[in-house]
Amino acid sequence: MNHKHSYWYKDFFTKFYLPYFSGRDTKEKIKREVKFISDTLTLPYGAHVLDLACGTGRHAVKLAKQGFVVTGLDFNNEFLKLARQASKKNGVQLKLVQGDMRSLPFRNKFESVICMYTSFGYFNDNGNLQTLKSISYSLKQSGYLLLDLPNKYWTTHKIAKKKINTIGSASVLEVRSFDKNRNLLKNKIIILERDRNKTRQVSISTFLRLYDLKEIQGELKKVNLRIIKVFGDYNLKNIFHSKTSLRMIILAKKE
Ligand SMILES: C[S@@+](CC[C@H](N)C(=O)[O-])C[C@H]1O[C@@H](n2cnc3c(N)ncnc32)[C@H](O)[C@@H]1O
Repeated sequence: MNHKHSYWYKDFFTKFYLPYFSGRDTKEKIKREVKFISDTLTLPYGAHVLDLACGTGRHAVKLAKQGFVVTGLDFNNEFLKLARQASKKNGVQLKLVQGDMRSLPFRNKFESVICMYTSFGYFNDNGNLQTLKSISYSLKQSGYLLLDLPNKYWTTHKIAKKKINTIGSASVLEVRSFDKNRNLLKNKIIILERDRNKTRQVSISTFLRLYDLKEIQGELKKVNLRIIKVFGDYNLKNIFHSKTSLRMIILAKKE
């Protein structure tokens, strides 16, 4: 693995994510996702939930509103500040922790850990397994992990290889390719910012380890997490089918 691959996520999430990639979701979509999370987990009022890689807290705040005791962890302090502001605005308490998902500072603490919106698969196989280990330690016995991943088959066969979006005064070009040997989805992103008569170009590549159901099942098993159910999107009725589902959302239990 080269240096670029190992550290892409630091630059991507501090410089590119918020301005160019976070505004795609509507309020309705987030509402639907939060309903899906609480319907899937069926946790009692007051249960402890960890929103792992919580970002700006869009799920965490709404879950806290429903009466869960929510901790959000992310490595990006700017996102945590926004999550803090959102919690204040909504009159809810959130515990926000800056940290790395590979070494979580919790033991047997949560009824549930949620990891939403492709926040897993950023490292090499060892780092990804370390993340799952850390999740497993953080969960109470019989606690649940909800792991929201892209469907590998769909992502590698059906998604457009090239995409161009206009975000404000910028054109955002994405070129995707899949390295079968390493199971890595590369997304080369080129951003053209127009500012009056000047044009500025920046680029970055992101790398995501994609897992099919068997592979992730094997990794989860290594850390005593057993798959209970797999959904194909944020609708409880839509069970995962590898050929047609957009997502692979896994509900696993700590044994
Ligand atoms: C795709 S975003 C999703 C954020 C949030 N779950 C949501 O649905 O809005 C991924 C998040 O992972 C965080 N992240 C990236 N690498 C991390 C690491 N090593 N440890 C903790 N968080 C990390 C980023 O800062 C970002 O907030």
